[in-house]
Amino acid sequence: MSLVDSQRRVLSGMRPSGYLHLGHYQGVLKNWVRLQHEYDCFFCIVDWHALTTDYDDVGQISQQVMAMAVDWLAAGVSPSSATLFIQSQVPEHAELQLLLSMICPLSWLERVPSYKEQQEQLHTKDLGTYGFLGYPLLQAADILLYRAGLVPVGADQLPHIEFARDVARRFNHLYGREPGFAVKAEAAILKLGKKTAKLYNGLRKAFQEQGDVEALETARALLKEVQNLTLGDRERLFGYLDGGGRVLLPEPQALLGAAPRLTGLDGQKMAKSNDNAIFLRDAPAEVEEKIRRMPTDPARVHRSDPGEPQRCPVWALHGVYSGEATGQWVQQGCRSASIGCLECKAPLAAAIQAELIPLQQRAEEYQSSPDLVRGILAEGAERARDQARETLVEVRQAMGLSYR
Ligand code: TRP
Ligand code: SF4
Repeated sequence: MSLVDSQRRVLSGMRPSGYLHLGHYQGVLKNWVRLQHEYDCFFCIVDWHALTTDYDDVGQISQQVMAMAVDWLAAGVSPSSATLFIQSQVPEHAELQLLLSMICPLSWLERVPSYKEQQEQLHTKDLGTYGFLGYPLLQAADILLYRAGLVPVGADQLPHIEFARDVARRFNHLYGREPGFAVKAEAAILKLGKKTAKLYNGLRKAFQEQGDVEALETARALLKEVQNLTLGDRERLFGYLDGGGRVLLPEPQALLGAAPRLTGLDGQKMAKSNDNAIFLRDAPAEVEEKIRRMPTDPARVHRSDPGEPQRCPVWALHGVYSGEATGQWVQQGCRSASIGCLECKAPLAAAIQAELIPLQQRAEEYQSSPDLVRGILAEGAERARDQARETLVEVRQAMGLSYR
C-alpha cells in the first residue's frame, strides 16, 4: 500500500438508522454507487458510533443495521465492486482508536463543533461520556485504518475529516521518522533489482537536484508497478523520493457530493427525525398519499388562485425528479392557475414510484434471505480486516510495540 494507492481508496461510514429515505438515496447512495466503479471503496455501518449517543437504547441496533444493509444493497451498492461491512466486526477499529488516543490532545476533541452542539441538542441525555467525547477519534480511526485518501461525506462532516487529517499528521510527525530511515531506504532500493534500482535512483536524483516534478511522478508510477515489496519498504521508497520520512497514515480528504440536500414533505430538510421523509421501501400507495398531503404555496387557496413554485416544497422535489418539460409545465401552470396542485403532484409521485420499483424488488429479495445479507457483511468484514491488519502491523511497530 502506498501514497498513490490511498488516492484510489475511498472509505465512508453511516450510522445504522434503519430504513433509509430518498434523502439518503439522492445525497449519499447514488454517489457511492458511482464511486464503487472508479475507486477501491469501503463502506462501513458504524454501529459503535450509534452507541456513542444511543447507549441507553440498544434494543434496535441489530435490526437497524440489517435494514440499512438491505437498503444499501437495494440501492445498488454492490459487494462485487465495494467492501460492505459492520464496524464492530472489525475490532481493529478499536485498537487503532486506542493507539491514536495516546497522541490525541483532549483540546482537539473538545473543540470539534459537534461535541458542544449535540450535547445541547440532546440535552435530555447525558453525553458527558468518554465514548461521546472520543467519537471523532473513532471516526478518524475508521478512515486511517484503511489509509483511505478520499472520504465522501456531507458538509456537516468536514470538521471531522479535518480532525482526522490533524491526527494523521501528528502521528506521521511522531513516528514517521524511524531511526536509520535512510539506511533502510537504501536497503529497500537494493531489493528492487538492478534495473529498477538504477531507474529509481536516477529519477530521485533528478527530482532532488533539479526539482524535476515529472521525474517524481514517474518514480511514483514505477513504484506502483513493483511487485514483491513489503508494505514498509514500499512506503520508505515513496518517502525517500521527496526526502521526507514515511507517511504511515496518509491524510484523508473529504469528497463532497454534488447533490444538494433533499427537501422533505414539509419544505424542511428531509430527515427521519423531522418526520417528513419518503422511505425507499414506502409502497406506491404510501408515496402517493404522502405527496398528496404535502403543503403547497399557501397563496393557492382556491384552484383559481395563481401560485409561485419557489414557495412550494412540491416544486423543490420536481427539481430533482422531473425533466425540463415537466418543469416548464409546472411553472407556467402554477403561475397562471391553469393547473391545480393535485395535478401538479401527479407526475412527481409517478417519477418517485418509478424510481423506487426496481429498488424495492431488490430489497425484497435481500429481505427474504437474511443469510445472504449476513454472508455479504461477513465477507466484507474479512476483506476489511485484511487491510486493517496490514495497517496495524505498521502502526504497532511504529509505536514501539513489536515483539518479533
Ligand atoms: N460521523 C459520521 C456521521 O455521523 C459517520 C461516520 C463514522 C463516518 N465513521 C465515518 C463517515 C468515517 C465517513 C468516514 O455521518
Ligand atoms: Fe406547488 Fe405545484 Fe401547487 Fe404550484 S401548482 S403551488 S408548484 S403544488
